[in-house]
Amino acid sequence: MEILFRLSGEHPSLPRAEIFAVMEGEGIESKVLVEFDKDRILVIDAKTNSEEFLHRLALTKLAGEFVGMFHGLEEMADLVAEKIPPNSKIAVRGSLPLEKELGAMFTEKGFGIDLEKPEFSIPLFKTGKQYLAAIVIPLGRDFEKRKPQFRPYFHPTSMHPRIARALVNLARVKKGDTVLDPFCGTGGILIEAGLMGMKASGSDIDEDMVEGSMKNLKHFGLEGEIKQTDALKLAEEFTGIDAIVTDMPYGRSSFTSEKDTKKLYNQFISAAARLLEKDKYLVVVMPDKFTPESGGFSVAGEFSIYVHKSLTRKVWVMRRA
Ligand SMILES: C[S@@+](CC[C@H](N)C(=O)[O-])C[C@H]1O[C@@H](n2cnc3c(N)ncnc32)[C@H](O)[C@@H]1O
Repeated sequence: MEILFRLSGEHPSLPRAEIFAVMEGEGIESKVLVEFDKDRILVIDAKTNSEEFLHRLALTKLAGEFVGMFHGLEEMADLVAEKIPPNSKIAVRGSLPLEKELGAMFTEKGFGIDLEKPEFSIPLFKTGKQYLAAIVIPLGRDFEKRKPQFRPYFHPTSMHPRIARALVNLARVKKGDTVLDPFCGTGGILIEAGLMGMKASGSDIDEDMVEGSMKNLKHFGLEGEIKQTDALKLAEEFTGIDAIVTDMPYGRSSFTSEKDTKKLYNQFISAAARLLEKDKYLVVVMPDKFTPESGGFSVAGEFSIYVHKSLTRKVWVMRRA
């Protein structure tokens, strides 16, 4: 199926990387048909008949069945009309003069215009002299409702569920795979993995975090295995892990010196390498200025992300060599 994506402007490259990582995890082959970086528009021919993978995406603003690229509006309206049932209620979304013009065209074709509750929403994008149109596939996401402050157990180090979801997606996992977060804190990453149908395994050195993350998982009707242990011992504690996704501790409360911090980070990479089989992924969030030793992995991607307040961190996507 040909899908048009409007990517979130939150990050220059992460939204695109997330789409390809999800398709890779799901075993979906694809081909890029059209791409307009500046407008954050990407059109892909995804070799699948199922829309399911779209519902996993955190950083896609909009996804829709691609109608085509046109020089004239009439041509576009004709093609859209072929794809949706006659007399449906529709909303055309574009810049205002275009919306009016198109609205009139579709009314003439027998469609009803309903901007509040349309049966089909049709976004229209203009790039240079051409128009691109799609029929929206509703993604029905509720990241805002899952924000850390709305869970039974809260700690300020928790990340936004949209970021947590994107991290899990970068690990190229699919339903039924086991995702491990060895520094799980309040369980934000494991919740997103669980909601996508992955098995959640975790650990934290802090007993309160272990209990709290279990409470949070239950709150969302999820199960998981969470152990109180040092993440450096994960090779002895866990088996059958398909990916590790984690946000490492930072800040003064966790370490006595900078040397200590670096040591823990690199020791953790080695521990992860002992646990993961070849081609499995480690997605790890670290301080922005730190470059980890590769320790048995090849780097598949690195992204600076803004977490909160003045905190920028780096996401490393590492594939076990
Ligand atoms: C940045 S927080 C993780 C936040 C988490 N992603 C969330 O959504 O709540 C890092 C966590 O690592 C834990 N931690 C610190 N040192 C650890 C170690 N050696 N082994 C396991 N956990 C550790 C801390 O207790 C803390 O909960």
